[in-house]
Amino acid sequence: MAPKLDGYFKQVDKLSETFIDRLRKAVAIPSISADDDRRQDVVKMSEFLVSELTSLGAHVESRPLGPQPGKRDLDLPPVIVARHGSSPDKRTILLYGHYDVQPALKDDGWATEPFALSIDDKGRMYGRGSTDDKGPVLGWLNAIHAHREARIELPVNLLMCFEGMEEYGSEGLDDFIEKEAKPGGFFADADAVCISDNYWLGTEKPCLTYGLRGCNYYSVAISGPGQDLHSGVFGGSAQEPMTDLMRVLGSLVDTNGKIKIPGINEMVAPLSEEEKSIYGGISYTIDNLHESIGSTTGIYEDKENTLMARWRYPSLSVHGIEGAFSAGGAKTVIPAKVIGKFSIRTVPDMESGKVDECVFKHVKEVFAALTSKNTLDVQLMHAGNWWVASPKHWNYTAAAKAVEAVFHTKPDLTREGGSIPVTLTFEKATGKNCLLLPMGSSTDAAHSINEKLDRRNYIEGTKLLGSYLHYVAAEELGG
Ligand code: BES
Ligand code: MN
Ligand code: MN
Repeated sequence: MAPKLDGYFKQVDKLSETFIDRLRKAVAIPSISADDDRRQDVVKMSEFLVSELTSLGAHVESRPLGPQPGKRDLDLPPVIVARHGSSPDKRTILLYGHYDVQPALKDDGWATEPFALSIDDKGRMYGRGSTDDKGPVLGWLNAIHAHREARIELPVNLLMCFEGMEEYGSEGLDDFIEKEAKPGGFFADADAVCISDNYWLGTEKPCLTYGLRGCNYYSVAISGPGQDLHSGVFGGSAQEPMTDLMRVLGSLVDTNGKIKIPGINEMVAPLSEEEKSIYGGISYTIDNLHESIGSTTGIYEDKENTLMARWRYPSLSVHGIEGAFSAGGAKTVIPAKVIGKFSIRTVPDMESGKVDECVFKHVKEVFAALTSKNTLDVQLMHAGNWWVASPKHWNYTAAAKAVEAVFHTKPDLTREGGSIPVTLTFEKATGKNCLLLPMGSSTDAAHSINEKLDRRNYIEGTKLLGSYLHYVAAEELGG
C-alpha cells in the first residue's frame, strides 16, 4: 500500500520558513575544512548540528578524530553521529552528509556575501554550502522536524553520520566507519545507506545516482633559489622553478581533456554495447551543459560523449599553483618555490596505487628531461575511490517511488563525475546498498561563486527525503 504522505507534505510547507532559517544559520558559519584558520568554525558548525539534532529528539554524539595528519596542533573536526529511533521491527537507514564547505571570498566574484544566505525574488538561495552540502544535511533534520510537529511516527530508524572534512578528502573517516560498522558499533544495524550530496543533471528532472568517480589529488613542488628573486637582476642567470613547473603541468593533459600520462587510459574498463545504449535515454542536453558551465566551451557537441566523459572516463584537472604571483598588476618576481596542484578523476577499473605509480614515473621523467638544477617533489595529497552500485536494489525502487510521489515524474538513473570518497567505504564496511539521492540542481554552482539552492529544491527535497523513508519501510513489507 502506498504510504499516506499528505500530512507530512502539509507540515513541510507550514514549516518552510523555519527550514529556511535553519539553512540561514548554517550558511552563516564559514566551516571551511581546507582552511586551518577556520577550523574553529568547522567545530562550531558541528556544535550547531549537535544542538539541532538534540532538540529534535535524536541521540547525538560528537566523536573526535584526533590530530590532523601532517599538521601540528590541529585537530580534525569531530564526526557527528546520531540515532533517531531504535525499534527492532523497523528498518534502519544510515544517512551520511558533510557539514564542511569549500572556501569562498566575496572578492572571488560573489554577487552577495558568501556566508550570508541571500534569497532573490525567484527563490534562489545564495550562500556557500547551500547546496553542498548543508541544504541536504538539513533536509534530513527538516524531515524529522516535520514528522515530529505533525505527530507522524517515522517508519524507519535513522542512523546519521555527518563529517567535517569531506572537501579535504574525508581525512580520518575511513577507519572510523570501518570500526563503527562492526558488530556492536554505532552503524552496525544499518540496512541500507543514503547519501544526499550530489545534484540533478538538469533543473527539472530528479535523479537517483548509482556511481561516482574517484579522485587522486597530487602536488608537484619545484624549488631552487633560497628566496624570491628580482627578475631584472637574476632573470637569465638563475634557473626558474615556475618555468619548469609549467612544462611539467603542460605534459599532463591536452586541450581536449586527453590524459597524456602513459598507462592511465589503458586501465579504463571498455565500453560495452549495453552500457553505450543507456546514454541516449538520459534527460540531458548540450544546452544543460552550456547553462551549467556558463559558456559554450564544452569539449563535445553531443550529450552521449559529454555524459561518458563525465561519468565513465577519467579526467585530469590542473587546479592552481601555490607560490606563484597571482595578484593583479605586474610584479617582476621570480618565485623561489612553486607547488602545482592537479587531480585525476578515476573510474572502473583504475587502481589508485597504480595511478600513483604512473603519475610519479611520468612527472619525474618529464622533469628529468628538462635537465634542470632545481628540485622536484611530487606527492599524493589524498585519494578517494570510485564507486558503482546496483540500482536494482529496494533502496533504489523505494527512492524512485518517492520521486514520483513528490515530483510526479520518474527519476533518471545516473552516475556522476564528482567524488564522495566514503561511499565505497560505507558500502564495503556495512555490506549494504548505498543510494545517492540528490536535492540540488545542475545550476547550483557547487564549489563556484554564487553557489545556491533553489527554495523549491530545498522544500520539495525535504519532502523527497522524508517520503523516501516511508517507501523504504513499505518496500520492507513487500509492497
Ligand atoms: N558533493 C560533492 C561530490 C559530488 C560533486 C558528487 C559533483 C557528484 C557530483 C562533494 O562535496 C565534493 O566536492 N567532493 C570532492 C571530493 C574530493 C575532495 C576528494 C570532489 O568531488 O571534488
Ligand atoms: Mn558535497
Ligand atoms: Mn563539494
